[in-house]
Amino acid sequence: MSVTLGPLLPVVVIDDADTARPLAEALRDGGIRHIEVTLRTPAALDALREMATVDGVTVGAGTVLTGEQADAATAAGASFLVSPGWDAALGEHMRRRDLTWLPGVATPSEAMAARAAGFSRLKLFPVELLGGVAFVDALAAVLPDVVFAPSGGIRVDQAADYLSRPCVETVGGSWMAPRDLVARRDFAGVTAASRAAVEALP
Ligand code: 3PG
Repeated sequence: MSVTLGPLLPVVVIDDADTARPLAEALRDGGIRHIEVTLRTPAALDALREMATVDGVTVGAGTVLTGEQADAATAAGASFLVSPGWDAALGEHMRRRDLTWLPGVATPSEAMAARAAGFSRLKLFPVELLGGVAFVDALAAVLPDVVFAPSGGIRVDQAADYLSRPCVETVGGSWMAPRDLVARRDFAGVTAASRAAVEALP
């Protein structure tokens, strides 16, 4: 199973599963094709299950910390899995299950370990604290066969700069669906934020 991610990956935190469908539709209507539902709330798996039935979007799970979470998210309809960090045992679980997994890395050593284990699409997190695009360039120079998904602290006006790097597959962030907007059920606001993010791309 392999999923090629679109340029923008909203990282969403869902407190109420009832918001899942209108949120996914709002993101889709703003031009978003992939959504990362973080497993940070009790509602996350139900939300993921609901979002996975929405036409026009592909849904993955984020903040995957354990193999059990990976299996539960996959059973709920996740097409890809993202973790904030690198974990060799978790990588072995993903490899055995043949799951699409983007582990998180924050150092060259972690990137080397993930790559050596067969994972060459890596979340760079928290990228703005790590040095932003300069950090992406530094890693890409020594690991030319690795593809990156930077996330963490990126602003809407910075996404295009990241995406101008050939090694960047997708840029993750919460700005397309801020938690407070979702909590207020401001789905028109989510569509507007998504559309603005898409239109800011080259
Ligand atoms: C992530 O998991 O990638 C972060 O939660 C992204 O959120 P931010 O855009 O608010 O940093």
